[in-house]
Amino acid sequence: MGSESLPETVPATMSAMLLTGHGDVDKLVHDTHVPTPRPAAGEVLVKVTATAKNNTDRKAREGLYPTKDKGEVTSFAMGGSPTLTFPRIQGADVVGRVVAVGEGVDASRIGERGLLDFNLYADARRDINLTPDYYGHGADGGFAEYIAVPSDQFHHVANPELADAELAAMGMCSYQTAYHMMTAARVRAGERVLVTGASGGVGTALIQLCRIVGAIPYALSQRDKAQALLELGAEAVLDRSDMTDFDEKVKAVTGGSPIDAVMDLVGGDMTDRFIDTMIVDMNRRTSYPRLSIAGASGGNVSEIMWTRVYLYQVQIFGVSHGTREEAEQLVKWIRGGQLKPVLHAAFKLSELHEAERYFVNRGSNYLGKIVIVPDSEWPQHGAPFALEGTR
Ligand SMILES: NC(=O)c1ccc[n+]([C@@H]2O[C@H](COP(=O)([O-])OP(=O)(O)OC[C@H]3O[C@@H](n4cnc5c(N)ncnc54)[C@H](OP(=O)(O)O)[C@@H]3O)[C@@H](O)[C@H]2O)c1
Repeated sequence: MGSESLPETVPATMSAMLLTGHGDVDKLVHDTHVPTPRPAAGEVLVKVTATAKNNTDRKAREGLYPTKDKGEVTSFAMGGSPTLTFPRIQGADVVGRVVAVGEGVDASRIGERGLLDFNLYADARRDINLTPDYYGHGADGGFAEYIAVPSDQFHHVANPELADAELAAMGMCSYQTAYHMMTAARVRAGERVLVTGASGGVGTALIQLCRIVGAIPYALSQRDKAQALLELGAEAVLDRSDMTDFDEKVKAVTGGSPIDAVMDLVGGDMTDRFIDTMIVDMNRRTSYPRLSIAGASGGNVSEIMWTRVYLYQVQIFGVSHGTREEAEQLVKWIRGGQLKPVLHAAFKLSELHEAERYFVNRGSNYLGKIVIVPDSEWPQHGAPFALEGTR
């Protein structure tokens, strides 16, 4: 916590949802008397208006980030010891307005609306990020009324056509990860890209980003979501409920061409099937098969024959988050209107438990992001995006 005193307009305590340990949603405790953070040198204090939910909130809460023993209940550690300690305020993709600045930050930033680059970067390097920890995991995040963050990571996005909840839906946890999956695999204009888990936060970002760089995204999703994904930019949508002869189905929509690169968010048994789509006819390829993986919604363990990987020279990239440069490029695309929000619904901060349950049990019409809005900001920033029937 910083040393600056708070302006009179900022209360000494705030409402926040505290994660008190690994477990079910009952580990989330709504507390209305949490000390308001103070901006340290180089930081801005942001009054939060909207914070997008990410899968990582649930995974971190449930302790589903094993890195050694498949069964361990834990979260990852970047420097030897865990950075997720309790109580912790989760919520990575924060939007709000600057209400105070720490030492060394220009006071003209007060009043600015912005979007947080959620990374806890280990250093100032702009083109590499080896320790992908983040606000809401290794430091407090946005499921609260205020957050103090580095001024250079709170990016000004004026764009009046974008509501705060919509801007939060374009948060970096999804978009930067999606973009880094593409840069890691060197996705180029004209390439055919298979996007799995296509309707989620990262998948919908990938479809849009493929189009921005001139690549052709093929989406793997569910039938009910096909029309929306086509409208978002997918060239074709494949149904994940029937994976028989999957490579043939892919060839049918690509005109017989192999997939150039796979952006995988599903993992499990399916990853091997995704590799099939790239190696089906090596004579028709003009580049090495490439697979970026950043999520494993379908299973954390896959059986893949190494002979397939090395004989077909499949390049596999593990991806988490991305770099400062990539975050800044994404903010430029947001400001320029090239990226569109895919916002499913907003929930009140005090109803985060319901939001978590809704997220886990979401129906087949679910697309994009859920955004959490502090109760005090709800009428302006949340209510217009509440679920049908709850407005
Ligand atoms: N490495 C990182 O830095 C990073 C950052 C963000 C997210 N992630 C991870 O990336 C994954 C996607 O994140 P997200 O925020 O986009 O999540 P999300 O919004 O929950 O989307 C995941 C999508 O995966 C598909 N899916 C879910 N269960 C599946 C199953 N059993 N088999 C096949 N497909 C399934 C669904 O899409 P369809 O219904 O369209 O098939 C779902 O919408 C998650 O595992 C998340 O934890 C990692």
